[in-house]
Amino acid sequence: MKTQNRVVKEYKRLANAYDRKWAFYIEATTRETIARLSVHREDRLLDVGCGTGALLERLAATQPAAQLAGVDPVPEMLASARRKLPSAVALRPGWAEQLPFDDSQFDIVVSCNMFHFIDRPVDALGEIRRVLQPGGRLVITDWCGDYWACRLFEQYQRLLGRAHARIYRARDCRRLLERAGFAVEAIDTYKINWRWGLMTIRCARAPA
Ligand SMILES: C[S@@+](CC[C@H](N)C(=O)[O-])C[C@H]1O[C@@H](n2cnc3c(N)ncnc32)[C@H](O)[C@@H]1O
Repeated sequence: MKTQNRVVKEYKRLANAYDRKWAFYIEATTRETIARLSVHREDRLLDVGCGTGALLERLAATQPAAQLAGVDPVPEMLASARRKLPSAVALRPGWAEQLPFDDSQFDIVVSCNMFHFIDRPVDALGEIRRVLQPGGRLVITDWCGDYWACRLFEQYQRLLGRAHARIYRARDCRRLLERAGFAVEAIDTYKINWRWGLMTIRCARAPA
């Protein structure tokens, strides 16, 4: 089964329990991402794979003048996000590989806990680049293959046949982003507990 089919099947089933089941993980990854994401008044920000909207909810509270949007392919996840977000936050169904937004529409794109689901990362990064204005910033938080526990957990996910494409080591992620036309500013690697070794990458849309 293609990763996208698995994503829809798994997250449709999980949507109602997601916030409760993954509370620790959501809180830690949202906190670490926001700490590395400077959002200014009236910035236009897109969250790709926004899920139930935890990150957007926090940004809406701290930066009410920012123009916030989220995209996710699973209607049940978006419905949960809609219930907790102000109506000014635009939510759209869609995949990272084909974003339903115009060129250069955003100052910042952020993606938290989503990148390991992408089968075609070059296509997805090309789309993110397209919707960012020149010089716009991209911040990605995801599992980091530099940590053995994460690599082991990835194997376990595969054995179970879970929705999962692959995780990256920091240096592979840097190469991928540079190939897709981003200038990498920093890759921070860190652990949030014994199992989860993560990385947050900050980069900018490089000139063509
Ligand atoms: C682990 S959840 C993370 C949700 C949210 N970002 C968070 O940190 O709580 C992964 C989300 O990515 C979405 N997703 C998976 N593959 C995707 C893709 N190719 N494009 C956009 N979103 C995707 C799923 O539907 C799901 O809502």
